[in-house]
Amino acid sequence: MRILSGIQPSGKLHIGNYFGAIKQMLKLQEENELFAFIANYHALSGGADIKELKSMTIDVAIDFLSLGIDPNRSHFWVQSHVKEVLELYWILSRYTPVGLLERGHSYKDKVAKGITPSHALFSYPVLMAADILLYDAQKVPVGKDQIQHLEMTRDIAIKFNNEHGEIFTVPEAYVEESVATVPGIDGAKMSKSYNNTIEIFMEEKPLQKRCNKIVTDSTPLGEPLDYESCNVYAICCLFLDKEEQLELANRYRSGKEGYGHFKKYLKSLIWDHFEEAREKRAYYKEHTDEVLEILDHGAKKAKAIAEVKMEQVRECVGIL
Ligand code: ADP
Ligand code: TRP
Repeated sequence: MRILSGIQPSGKLHIGNYFGAIKQMLKLQEENELFAFIANYHALSGGADIKELKSMTIDVAIDFLSLGIDPNRSHFWVQSHVKEVLELYWILSRYTPVGLLERGHSYKDKVAKGITPSHALFSYPVLMAADILLYDAQKVPVGKDQIQHLEMTRDIAIKFNNEHGEIFTVPEAYVEESVATVPGIDGAKMSKSYNNTIEIFMEEKPLQKRCNKIVTDSTPLGEPLDYESCNVYAICCLFLDKEEQLELANRYRSGKEGYGHFKKYLKSLIWDHFEEAREKRAYYKEHTDEVLEILDHGAKKAKAIAEVKMEQVRECVGIL
């Protein structure tokens, strides 16, 4: 099975990215053909700081490698290194009704939040469709917020195929229900754009400070706590198996511990979970040449596939 997913280098990776997307990718790379890329063109559609974009792109690549993407087994590259994706984006635009994009939740939400709607933000889902269709991906592991973009991709692929024959594989979203939406420190969806994230690779002290900022209710110390509505509990559970989750719920019910204890516990869960990744990251930070070589090799492998697909597509739409 061919699996594909991308992550924007628009900020430091957080545990929502990890549980919503990266962890699924890592699991799927064991038994499938994984295509994973850094979506740096997408980062131009919104909040990314352009001055930082080059270095963020490398940073996110380092983070991915540290978390366990295996470049020998998988295709791992930077989106902008395979320019064919932009050509396909334009061609697919012909098959994309404006109404489809106007209904985009992500687009509408961002506009509602006061982001000036550029054409890049509006047509973002078409570029995402190009990412996916260029490589004939079958399954796309993403968080819940991206499901609509996958539906758009399917619509565009079906429209193209209806006119030209079975050129594109019609992909499916792969969403792990239990982690579909990881909450941020304020209880809303964790997102770089909401400034409510817990970054994967924070230093230990800032990490504890961040955990301490998670909003909780004002139940006084000594009284049972409501774990079901608690963000600290929800985030802890991402790191725990069913039995450990029950144990933690019992600790909440016992009334013997306050939120401060659970925030410390959460910090230790995060810190321990990413220990090995932190070590690898320290290595890659010292060896960026190696990272660039890995990305270059990945881009070459991806490009070879993209070129074949584009030959077919150009033929369909009469491009000389
Ligand atoms: P952000 O919202 O922080 O900008 P991205 O849009 O770059 O994150 O998301 C990258 C990937 O991580 C996507 O597949 C997205 O669905 C997933 N993801 C992001 N935030 C969360 C979250 N809070 N819960 C689950 N998955 C998430
Ligand atoms: N839009 C995705 C996000 O913000 C990133 C992305 C770009 C992507 N192209 C993709 C995800 C293709 C999956 C497949 O999270």
